[in-house]
Amino acid sequence: MKQLIDKLHKTRELEPAEFKELIENRCAELSEYLFAKARAVQIENYGNNVYIRGLIEFTNYCKNDCYYCGIRKSNSTAERYRLTKEQILQCCDTGYELGFRTYVLQGGEDGYYTDEKMVDIIQSIKNNYPDCAVTLSMGEKSFETYQAFFEAGADRYLLRHETANEEHYGRLHPHNLLLKNRIQCLSDLKKIGYQVGCGFMVGSPFQNTDCLVEDLLFIKEFNPHMVGIGPFIPHHETPFAKEKAGELELVLFLLGIVRLMLPAVLMPATTALGTIHPQGRELGILSGANVVMPNLSPTDVRGKYLLYDNKICTGDEAAECRNCLQGRIEKIGYKIAVTRGDHKSKL
Ligand code: 5AD
Ligand code: FES
Repeated sequence: MKQLIDKLHKTRELEPAEFKELIENRCAELSEYLFAKARAVQIENYGNNVYIRGLIEFTNYCKNDCYYCGIRKSNSTAERYRLTKEQILQCCDTGYELGFRTYVLQGGEDGYYTDEKMVDIIQSIKNNYPDCAVTLSMGEKSFETYQAFFEAGADRYLLRHETANEEHYGRLHPHNLLLKNRIQCLSDLKKIGYQVGCGFMVGSPFQNTDCLVEDLLFIKEFNPHMVGIGPFIPHHETPFAKEKAGELELVLFLLGIVRLMLPAVLMPATTALGTIHPQGRELGILSGANVVMPNLSPTDVRGKYLLYDNKICTGDEAAECRNCLQGRIEKIGYKIAVTRGDHKSKL
């Protein structure tokens, strides 16, 4: 198995059967071997920097009904909210003081935010903070809309593919959502010139090792700038309420593999990872991740943006979160970078 890791390190790829063998035969010792290499590759590319992104969850209205997601439209118990442009700018202001140079606007697919409204919000942020990057994470849009957002100044876009297996995709989403459209969106975003992130949940219902192998092959082929991988965590008001959460150790193993496959990728230690284990995010960084995305949303809405149960940091002020993270990151020998943290290919 170590030879497979050496091969992955050297050639940055493996055959499907080799990925499968590696995942199925993983153990604590092998994981340590992988993580040491993943850390070395991360440090060769970005030093001991951890990049921070201020996450602004600007709406929890969503027209979609993904079976795993707590803000799906059928969840009538969710208390819905939208942030105004002024509230969003206020979050950026707080964030700037705390050293954030990337803002991530994340929300459900909410028709209230027309292209015109979004363009205005993006332009306002870029005018006020010309040294900051704007990342969008608001789902599937047309080529023209993505283009308009890009021209308004958006730099990056996060759109997880969720699973690269079509049948599996169909078991996680209602049938109006198709994997083929997701992939079209991802390819449109890249063509327009965004730094693009894809990604998937680990341990989502019906996922098996073959699905994970397909995810890895898809990521290798698509060659994104960013990859988001976190555990699936059930939400009590969804069809998957009774399913079990993804495993920490498998998430970490996949982070390590992706670091070796795409040495310069920007990869968060996700909030979901921090939710399933008290040191989840630190362990993520020690497995090859190099980004954290603390919450900048106003405290009164944080508890309402619940994609899954038991989400961490919903009660903390932005400043507390920033300081807490700084301590945690320094404790493991890394430092927080006060820069945009662009992908190496865009510097
Ligand atoms: N558990 C973990 N991650 C989730 N997401 C949505 N619902 C859940 C859940 N129950 C992830 C999806 C989405 C991202 C914003 O959050 O992968 O793309
Ligand atoms: Fe949010 Fe520690 S990271 S309080």
